[in-house]
Amino acid sequence: MNWFGRVAALYDSKRKDFNWRLAADGIIHHHNGLVFDRAAYMRRVREGGAAAEKAVHDSETALSRFGFKFLGRLGHGAQLLDAGCGRGGSSLLLAARYPRLAIKGFTLSSYQAAAARTAARHRGCQDRVKFRRGSMLALPARAGSFDAVWACESTEHVPAMKDFFMETARVAKAKARLVIIAWVRNAGHRLGRKYAALADRAYVTKIHAERDYLEGANGTGWELTRAEDLTGPTAAYWAGRAALKSGSGTESFMAPGFASRALLYRLYAYRLKK
Ligand SMILES: C[S@@+](CC[C@H](N)C(=O)[O-])C[C@H]1O[C@@H](n2cnc3c(N)ncnc32)[C@H](O)[C@@H]1O
Repeated sequence: MNWFGRVAALYDSKRKDFNWRLAADGIIHHHNGLVFDRAAYMRRVREGGAAAEKAVHDSETALSRFGFKFLGRLGHGAQLLDAGCGRGGSSLLLAARYPRLAIKGFTLSSYQAAAARTAARHRGCQDRVKFRRGSMLALPARAGSFDAVWACESTEHVPAMKDFFMETARVAKAKARLVIIAWVRNAGHRLGRKYAALADRAYVTKIHAERDYLEGANGTGWELTRAEDLTGPTAAYWAGRAALKSGSGTESFMAPGFASRALLYRLYAYRLKK
């Protein structure tokens, strides 16, 4: 099986999984959370059961909402590409926030695309929020289609970031925004390779170093406008996950990976110069 087949197989297999279990509100996240008040969060986690799961889920929703602020204005008629949409969590939150925004989400997993379509139908936004199986590195979209691109924890699966930047620049409109949220290998940390390798094995990723997000965009039209370091607030989130009675099984290396800063959690915002 090739690389993309392996990524698709991973997400096809994740059904009644950890992320699904947390999603009492029907919004299934496949990404880290952000915790700004660690003491209050840990109190909720220590309560255990549904309270703990809600605390973790709420912090994941907080990450989405934090990231949305970097997408710029999404007024009437705006089109957003959700590049690597999972089961549609971010798109559905965006659709609720921007009632006239049209969204197209792509995932490599046919199961995820179908699950996201069902979720959109349940929320009554299926006419403007569409999900398809397809690669964000070869999009079935015309040049200059999108006002904004959202890529939350999907670029870790991309073998060469240049391919991602070039394809998203092709389908984006002039002055479009791109927001990437990603696990990043800390190239200057002695444990960077160790923790990136552990995550890569578990999640079928190729975690990139920071320069891939900075230099990778050079010459593609995307210009970096902001870089946020979210490592501290996500290390706090993973500390809560490590204290859960039953998690996903990856907490044993993800929690120390972020706590030690061998892995970084970054948000990069870009604007298309065309
Ligand atoms: C960790 S999940 C994140 C999902 C979603 N963005 C979220 O935040 O909940 C990674 C997603 O990226 C998608 N993905 C990875 N490589 C892709 C590619 N080349 N084309 C489309 N989707 C891709 C996977 O199918 C999966 O849905």
